[in-house]
Amino acid sequence: MVSGGARLVGDVFVGGAKNSVLKLMAAALLAQGRTVLTNAPEIADVPLMADVLRGLGATVDISGDTVTIDTPAEPDYHADFDAVKQFRASVCVLGPLMARRHRAVVALPGGDAIGSRPLDMHQAGLRALGAQSTIEHGCVVAEAERLSGAEVVLDFPSVGATENILMAAVLAEGVTTIDNAAREPEIVDLCVMLTEMGARIDGAGSPTLTVTGVDALTPTTHHVVGDRIVAGTWGVAAVMTRGDITVHGIDPEHLRLVLKKLEGAGARVDRFDDGFRVIQESRPVAVDTATLPFPGYPTDLQPMAIGLATVSEGMSMVTENVFEARFRFVEELVRLGADARTDGHHAVIRGVERLSSAPVWSSDIRAGVGLVLAGLVADGDTEVHDIEHIDRGYPNFEDQLRTLGGTIRREIG
Ligand code: UD1
Repeated sequence: MVSGGARLVGDVFVGGAKNSVLKLMAAALLAQGRTVLTNAPEIADVPLMADVLRGLGATVDISGDTVTIDTPAEPDYHADFDAVKQFRASVCVLGPLMARRHRAVVALPGGDAIGSRPLDMHQAGLRALGAQSTIEHGCVVAEAERLSGAEVVLDFPSVGATENILMAAVLAEGVTTIDNAAREPEIVDLCVMLTEMGARIDGAGSPTLTVTGVDALTPTTHHVVGDRIVAGTWGVAAVMTRGDITVHGIDPEHLRLVLKKLEGAGARVDRFDDGFRVIQESRPVAVDTATLPFPGYPTDLQPMAIGLATVSEGMSMVTENVFEARFRFVEELVRLGADARTDGHHAVIRGVERLSSAPVWSSDIRAGVGLVLAGLVADGDTEVHDIEHIDRGYPNFEDQLRTLGGTIRREIG
């Protein structure tokens, strides 16, 4: 239950990125011994990933924001459905298993209902490195005599495919180039950790990654990069509620375009080394947004962009270029009185002064948070159902919201 009307004011601290920590945990499979991750977010997906790694023979300990993974000399190569079914990121064990074992059987994962999420680019990349890969009985199956460096050109800068190919290539023989690689800060974070482990990688953060294979990697201790999506969510929340929020624990460069959009909506944004402050005094004005791979506007903040548009002055167009089914939650916003319609991958929204409370249902992590933000600018109390999605990506979300002056209550049952 979310009550509308509060102006959110105060400080929030964001932890490590969900979309980084899960991949870094998988990367721990690349080196025998004890890898330690600090600044890990306390979200539901971290223990789930720990179970995936345990199923592969690793010992995993989670203590507050520290995750310790002890990888055996020879990890198992089969990640079964029970372990991976609940979340998409589990597929990132594919690359490390190919690197260490030259074979992998990974059940096709579940995850958010945001559109079809094929693995063709992951498989094409592994094939280029010399593996055979098929889908059999609901599993990705890959096998290779040995992995050899190759030129890989991705059709699209897929985050997951870049990560899997990168993690397979670090222990392959020779040089691999990945062209049209994803450039997200979480990819850079992975490259930094792999380099700390002894990998040789050039071009992190650019569209071309060059990887020179090495014989073995050694474990490391690594600080997970801050979660730009959580940070950006609070920035949008400040603008929607005409509030004043200072976000700590994030490099504002990772949100360069998002913060520019917030300024376009009328906010004052102050940037610091490890955070930013967003102040909104009056009703936000409409801005257009198009999602694209980094450094474009992140698709994971698209629901927040639409939420903002519903109460902005004027007409906004939000274009989704990454996941086709991400507009499902627009129907929920319409329940709250939003004047919005979708056509293909465009959503057109005419802002209203205030939304009106209603029961709504969240379909994934980001849509869930988008609906809570909408509830904050609706008259009365809004029931957001299936809120457990939020626990997968936003640590202590309700506590943080309350600290900022929001009223939210979780009802179990
Ligand atoms: C990751 C993030 C997710 C984010 C997305 C885009 C994690 C755990 N999740 O997801 O939060 O929204 O990046 O920034 O890090 N595609 C193919 N074939 C493939 C792979 C992808 O067609 O083999 C398509 C997808 O269907 C999608 C697009 O490429 O349309 C982008 O997907 P991708 O970048 O791979 O996203 P994920 O890694 O799944």
